[in-house]
Amino acid sequence: MCGIIGHVGTGNALETLLTGLENLEYRGYDSAGVAVQNGSGIAVQKRSGKVEELKESIRDAHLEGCVGIGHTRWSTHGPPTDTNAHPHTDETTDVAVVHNGIIENYAELREWLCTRGHEFTSDTDTEVIPHLIQYYLDEGSESEAAFRRAIDELEGSYAVTAMISGEHVLYAARKGSPLVVGVEDDEFFLASDVPAFLEYTDSVVYLEDGDVVIVDDGGVEFTDLEGNPVTRDPETVDWDPEQAGKGGYDHFMLKEIHEQPTSLAQAVEGRIDPENGRIALENFESGTFEGVESVQLVACGTSYHAALYGSLALNQAGIRSKALLANEYSVSAPPVDDDTLVVAVTQSGETADTLNALRRAARAGARTLTVTNVVGSTAAREADDALFIRAGPEIGVAATKTFSSQVVMLTLLAQRIADDCLGAPPADLEMLLPELARLPGTIETVLEQSDAAAVASRFQECQSYFFIGRGLGYPVALEGALKFKEITYEHAEGFASGELKHGPLALVTPETPVFAIFTGQEDEKTLKNAEEAQTRGAPVVAVCPDDHRAVDIADAHLKIPETDADISGLLANVQLQLVSYHAADLLDRPIDKPRNLAKSVTVE
Ligand code: F6R
Repeated sequence: MCGIIGHVGTGNALETLLTGLENLEYRGYDSAGVAVQNGSGIAVQKRSGKVEELKESIRDAHLEGCVGIGHTRWSTHGPPTDTNAHPHTDETTDVAVVHNGIIENYAELREWLCTRGHEFTSDTDTEVIPHLIQYYLDEGSESEAAFRRAIDELEGSYAVTAMISGEHVLYAARKGSPLVVGVEDDEFFLASDVPAFLEYTDSVVYLEDGDVVIVDDGGVEFTDLEGNPVTRDPETVDWDPEQAGKGGYDHFMLKEIHEQPTSLAQAVEGRIDPENGRIALENFESGTFEGVESVQLVACGTSYHAALYGSLALNQAGIRSKALLANEYSVSAPPVDDDTLVVAVTQSGETADTLNALRRAARAGARTLTVTNVVGSTAAREADDALFIRAGPEIGVAATKTFSSQVVMLTLLAQRIADDCLGAPPADLEMLLPELARLPGTIETVLEQSDAAAVASRFQECQSYFFIGRGLGYPVALEGALKFKEITYEHAEGFASGELKHGPLALVTPETPVFAIFTGQEDEKTLKNAEEAQTRGAPVVAVCPDDHRAVDIADAHLKIPETDADISGLLANVQLQLVSYHAADLLDRPIDKPRNLAKSVTVE
């Protein structure tokens, strides 16, 4: 899940590389480095820590040249030290390489190279690549052939970009890890993800597994591993650099929370027709899902919470459905057949666990669909079909706007599947669609009127934070707790409201505020559960409309407007996102880059 950037152009590559690395830091940030062709060879600068620290260290280094590569790392093999940081080189620094992914046969390759006199300096799997290239160069291969022969040796997953001393060329290959090419006149970029070079171009080519590209001053050559030309057409992305910047907010996370009115408007645009009570999902014409007997949703983390929301919505609409943790799917997948639809829910479309579950389901004969934010991502391309949540780039490591867009997308999907499979639209569609159309405005109201900062401050000194909800409020409780723990580093847990009394109540004290989410589904029972915690000393924060009965008993109130019970949890979720954000801000946490985490988890 590291970030790669490469640049071939006319100007100094260093600035482009550092900007790219800053834009990619959400992919990993435990070490960073760059390598530039500086006229007399390859100059490398790398170190543990964030890109900011690399920039500091680079001040006195001689790194001028118009071809270069850069990398920001999330460690898999070896700790985040200066030596393990990328780029990696051979002993003579004739070859420099950046890599994202895992080389599964690196131990054998390393041993093989060692017996031929190569000396290694790092603990990484990546270091075998420059050594292999150098080995084939020494054997007499031309540069391109040496690169191809080295790539051919690799087992596992990789996005690799390499440069060879004295050449104005970058060599790159992709298998199982994302790599995109950006083109702007005579400037060319290679990166793990589009935001890396959005400042410079919006013209993007998504590489496919098995692609090898050669980029030089004259352009980009797209080939397969054997060197046969392949056609890859550029696409124009409609994300702009300002969208990918902080836009005046202190943190990306806060900006992305505030973007939800826009991202949700984009999620439903052209997909709902409230006047006629109809849902239209692009290529999914009426009847597309006919014959689907059951739906399995596979996902991780926040996306799993959205998947759980989706599966509850499907069950409520009369379709048999189950949400499963993608990382457990390989050992606990329920049986599938060609009447099973398996939906991978993944913001990035690159999460290894989710991709594995998707592939397993496809092998077992299921029909597959990906719900993702990233057009051109691996999950989007590997599934039979894809639906895009259209949330725009999300940079904060903690997912916010993409969760709400996933939930909306899955809510629409649930209704469409039910419509196709049961022969009639679910009864409440005429209530739901106008509320979905109003949702961006309703969320704007929540954002404008939220008391989350005061609530976060009031309970700042507490020991543990509990979140409870029932029905569609349950995944929101789980998500509220995940957000809270990942950015505050405080203990937080989400429960189905009815579960508190089956054990967790033992933990309840005046130091454990309970955030109770009321979505209009059996609220009286959730209220009772909240009161049971309150009786034992816990302060209760009710997340509910103004005139709700819970307001009378609650110690604090986070207000949400009345809306359809199918989407009311999304309003509660915005309040909880804000509580987590403000609590983390009071604690001065690195909100956009919580410790030990990365945005895109491309390892199992
Ligand atoms: C938490 C968070 C993660 C991701 C998870 C799956 O805020 O962002 O839990 O949801 O790593 O990532 P995607 O959705 O890219 O598959």
